[in-house]
Amino acid sequence: MQPPYILAIDQGTTSSRCIVFDAAARPVAVAQREFPQHYPASGWVEHDLEDIWSDVVSVLREAVEKAAIDVADIAAIGITNQRETVAVWDRASGKPIHRAIVWQDRRTADTCAKLKADGAESLFAAKTGLLLDPYFSGTKLAWILDEVAGARGAAERGELAFGTIDCFLLSRLTRGKVHATDPTNASRTLMFDIGAQQWDDELLRLLRVPASVLPEVKDNAHIYGTSDPAILGRAIPIAGMAGDQQAALFGQACFRPGMTKSTYGTGAFALMNIGNKPIPSQKRMLTTVGYRLNGETTYALEGAIFVAGAAVKWLRDGLRIITHASDTHDMAVRVPDNHGVYMVPAFVGLGAPHWDPDARGLICGLTLDAGAGHIARAALEAVAYQTLDLINAMKEDIAREHATPGDAALRIDGGMAANDWLGQFLSDILVAPVERPVSVETTALGAAFLAGLATGVWSDLAALEATWASDRRFDPKMDPDLRGSLVAGWHKAVERALL
Ligand code: G3P
Repeated sequence: MQPPYILAIDQGTTSSRCIVFDAAARPVAVAQREFPQHYPASGWVEHDLEDIWSDVVSVLREAVEKAAIDVADIAAIGITNQRETVAVWDRASGKPIHRAIVWQDRRTADTCAKLKADGAESLFAAKTGLLLDPYFSGTKLAWILDEVAGARGAAERGELAFGTIDCFLLSRLTRGKVHATDPTNASRTLMFDIGAQQWDDELLRLLRVPASVLPEVKDNAHIYGTSDPAILGRAIPIAGMAGDQQAALFGQACFRPGMTKSTYGTGAFALMNIGNKPIPSQKRMLTTVGYRLNGETTYALEGAIFVAGAAVKWLRDGLRIITHASDTHDMAVRVPDNHGVYMVPAFVGLGAPHWDPDARGLICGLTLDAGAGHIARAALEAVAYQTLDLINAMKEDIAREHATPGDAALRIDGGMAANDWLGQFLSDILVAPVERPVSVETTALGAAFLAGLATGVWSDLAALEATWASDRRFDPKMDPDLRGSLVAGWHKAVERALL
């Protein structure tokens, strides 16, 4: 018999992809579709769930066709997704009652401010590991129930279902038979007690969400259901689900406390495995579920930078000082230093550890002989400085529980991880090794790993770990005084952005 293949659906913020992996964890074929973003008001971001669904079906079919494999050889489907984005649909018809409200959407800032003013933040933080910020799902779900005519009544009668995108896709893939999610996605909703691993009635009451809309929460590696045979010609087990950043942690084989990955896409998300206790952060990091296998939860600390690659996109489309994102590499190399120029990319406020939605971006230290190269370099440098702030905060948090992180190397992935200059600069600024794996498709791979574990393609974590291979390792080599002055310059610049 042919060794099995696994399909990983990666439903992201701007595109839907499907990657076919073989049993050696190698990507065999990829299909991808970008879909429209809707901005109905300032700070609002929505997705049409029918766009997402039809694209997912298309990329599934296209990837299988490109891989030229027999569907009989597909062992399982894994799903990974943009997290926190809220979908609500009618249970009977499967039709969404509103467009999905995307994680970037800020429309519930006032609701969060009110809950904070009422003193609820410490309760939410203690149970969910999160802060009261519109980023997370709960207040968005309440908004839909309040604003769509008749929705609250229908929800109370048990007629509506809520889910993050994993859950919505699972429901559609199983023709409405299964309404379930996984603990990583649940842990981003403000409604899930990550210690008790269950939806929390007290939080639901504060958010005014009826429990009747909630999905069941199952392990990350679990046979959730089987796909409608009409999609690929055969029913295939849907056997793994995880939010994209946790899937990347899993795909990077960060299985021991202290192991950390950072994914550089539009934003950047650093997650550190912290073992089996949900260590609360004293540094305004998030505590979240890393993964849950056989009922055992592994937790993670997370730091989110809202703008990383988005700053490079701004250099290209806004400032127009580069033609391709990759130009930043050569520009950064061509200038001997940053010439005192710093960019604080607080275009949409600052995430961890500042959580300041009102901070705004700045470029400082400009002199008449500063040029485009310095600005491009400053955009890349900012990614490294922000990562340093996150890693330092996480290290302090974890130091209270674990002696020394098991593996000091930071594992990087995402589009910007291809930039060698950035890899070296990151290592210099972190004063730690930085490693890039051969397969940078770690998010999709994480979903494939989970689905493969549940269906016996891989036997255990050791088998997954054995597939991880380094493409390039960067070791620190910068003069410590120079590093010290660069980091000090960054912190001064951040203070200005926060004023
Ligand atoms: O928390 C948001 C994150 O999951 C979005 O990831 O890669 O779809 O932008 P991405």
